[in-house]
Amino acid sequence: MYCSTCFGTKHAHRAGAGRKSRMATSTLTRAKKNRADEFYTQMPDIEAELRHYRSQFEGKSVLCNCDDPYESNFFRYFALNFNYLGLRKLVATCYAGSSVMQTELPLFDIPSVAEADAAARLPYKIEISEVVDTNADGAADLVDVAHLLRSRKNVLTILEGDGDFRSPECVELMKQADIVVTNPPFSLFREFMAQLMALDKKFLIIGSKNAITYLDIFSLIKEDKLWMGHGFPNGNAFFRVPDAYDREWAAGVFDQTTGLVKFRNVSWFTNLDVSKRHEFLTLYRNYTPEEYPRYANYDAIEVSKVSEIPCDYDGEMGVPITFLDKYNPDQFEIIGSSRFLGRPMSEIAPKGTYVAGGIRFYLPKGDGTYRRLYDRIVIRRKKRSAK
Ligand SMILES: C[S@@+](CC[C@H](N)C(=O)[O-])C[C@H]1O[C@@H](n2cnc3c(N)ncnc32)[C@H](O)[C@@H]1O
Repeated sequence: MYCSTCFGTKHAHRAGAGRKSRMATSTLTRAKKNRADEFYTQMPDIEAELRHYRSQFEGKSVLCNCDDPYESNFFRYFALNFNYLGLRKLVATCYAGSSVMQTELPLFDIPSVAEADAAARLPYKIEISEVVDTNADGAADLVDVAHLLRSRKNVLTILEGDGDFRSPECVELMKQADIVVTNPPFSLFREFMAQLMALDKKFLIIGSKNAITYLDIFSLIKEDKLWMGHGFPNGNAFFRVPDAYDREWAAGVFDQTTGLVKFRNVSWFTNLDVSKRHEFLTLYRNYTPEEYPRYANYDAIEVSKVSEIPCDYDGEMGVPITFLDKYNPDQFEIIGSSRFLGRPMSEIAPKGTYVAGGIRFYLPKGDGTYRRLYDRIVIRRKKRSAK
């Protein structure tokens, strides 16, 4: 049946689910408020990214802390690949504000979940320490995981609080984890990153590329404490949204048939080693002042395409932020971003000769007016031999 309280999700409720405690009601209210953060990552995208880091997970404890196990393919991925990756532990926590918190958990139809259900489905954590191939088919599958959740080795515990990643018990779980892997709420990306940094954690998380332009995030990138992961296939990230998501989408973003939204400005952010970070970009273009004009409000040349970075220019160059997908810190140094380096045009040119709005780099058009550019990252080549 379809349930109106669960945003149209098709599922059955357990007996007694009609009993709503105050906690459950406030949870649902918050869920509605937080719908804008409900984007569920697709398994193929997780697999495509995670395959680049396999050796770094061996013997590690992984935390998925924005992940209702019923909805989260992150939990599913790590549970299924627990032995393949050689994990020591997997912990997933469920947030009270999640729109699926009120739903059935058929995968985990186990006594402890039933207890949680009776307690108005309070947020919980699941800790997996062992995955055995119980049906002896040579692979650990979800049947095995479900079985293991019935055993005492793998524990489901009701959280004291609401499962907010910033709550004391969830901070404690993050402290204990070696690697945090999740797609945190987009609206709390900066707070999430700040917490990872404060606790000095290894991580692989999804976020909007817009975050690159924020000073706190950009500073981490510049200081080599954060970089981009491999990225989504062809730059397209698809997420599932709750069934009755009543948000309006720009044309081409939401596909009614698949129920997926497509974002092109989303990427993986990590401090795990990424092989492409050690690959040298092949540079084949030569610098000429005509092809690489200088900005009006900063002393650097404009390189409008990453593939056109000149191989023989030693000064500062402004490049699109897509450069970060190709950034090798042995080849280039990041100087800063146009948002923080550019001089205000009001100090340079008369009003009316440029379109104002935020600090950006501008190029002279040659007729006394100026063209405003998209965000640029200013870089410099580290060594001439790195072509
Ligand atoms: C973008 S969704 C991603 C869900 C899941 N990680 C995935 O990738 O499929 C972010 C999730 O974070 C949860 N969330 C929102 N605020 C949170 C908070 N303060 N602490 C923990 N989780 C939160 C939301 O309920 C939502 O399920």
